[in-house]
Amino acid sequence: MQRTIQDKTPDTPWQSSLSDRDFRRLRRCIYNECGINLPDYKKTLVESRLHKRIRILKMSSLSDYCNYLFSSQGIKNELNNLIDAITTNKTDFFREPDQFDYLTREVLPELISTKGAGMRKTLSLWSAGCSSGEEPYTIAMVLSDFSERLYGNCFDFRILATDISLTVLKQAKIGIYGHDHIAPVPMHMRSKYLLKGKKNRKDFVRIAPDIRKLVTFSRLNFMEEHFILSEPADIIFCRNVIIYFNRQTQEQVLTRICSNLRPGGYMFLGHSETLNQLSVPLVPVIPTIFRKPV
Ligand SMILES: C[S@@+](CC[C@H](N)C(=O)[O-])C[C@H]1O[C@@H](n2cnc3c(N)ncnc32)[C@H](O)[C@@H]1O
Repeated sequence: MQRTIQDKTPDTPWQSSLSDRDFRRLRRCIYNECGINLPDYKKTLVESRLHKRIRILKMSSLSDYCNYLFSSQGIKNELNNLIDAITTNKTDFFREPDQFDYLTREVLPELISTKGAGMRKTLSLWSAGCSSGEEPYTIAMVLSDFSERLYGNCFDFRILATDISLTVLKQAKIGIYGHDHIAPVPMHMRSKYLLKGKKNRKDFVRIAPDIRKLVTFSRLNFMEEHFILSEPADIIFCRNVIIYFNRQTQEQVLTRICSNLRPGGYMFLGHSETLNQLSVPLVPVIPTIFRKPV
């Protein structure tokens, strides 16, 4: 049957592609707003991510969406939704678990003995690009367990967790996760730090209040030129974030992030991220873990 204009839906193939001009406009906007680099081969990915917005806004094509987005009202109303649609928020509890072993085995004992961190003064950690909270809550569970086992719960720390996406931050603050999500959390931590849902919520767990209160969530866009934390961090986790940036943006963003790291502080990157040929004030400790020179 031939389709008429009236019965077109956003699923019809001719509507699902972006014109080259619209893709260029979107690419420029996303790069300027959040630093994310979208090479040509990501066009299909962008199209598929924007289809949800089209359905929600009851528009009939990506071209209508772009015309709306690039109007003066559209950019105000839609920018955060565009950022939410384009950012990749994949994360997990205990992602790259060997880093948490290294944290408790090497990094914490060193910072405690040289700087009295966590003892004479609060140890400050920053989960930069925290997505829906699994990373900062993992850090909170690991450090609480460390504190209980070795320091009679007297090891003092706090965690700042930031992201550009308001949607993931909202989920993170609530701290509720599906049961299928918590498989990587060691059993002894599950029983201490996760609350089981009851009745119609039994497929969910909630992060226990004592762990939730160790983490402060806040919105931060790394593209802001000068962001200064109220206090520099001793340890920064910035994992699986710079991979979406081009070389120049990686260097700019990491330099800004490092200006909020104490001399002698540690930086954890994701396993597929490197600092090769980037001019940033960090020296390697082991692969993916770096230190700011004193
Ligand atoms: C793939 S997730 C990584 C989450 C977590 N760090 C991990 O390794 O599991 C990347 C996060 O970086 C955030 N992000 C991307 N661009 C950003 C920017 N310009 N400023 C702040 N956060 C950004 C995204 O919203 C996303 O939640």
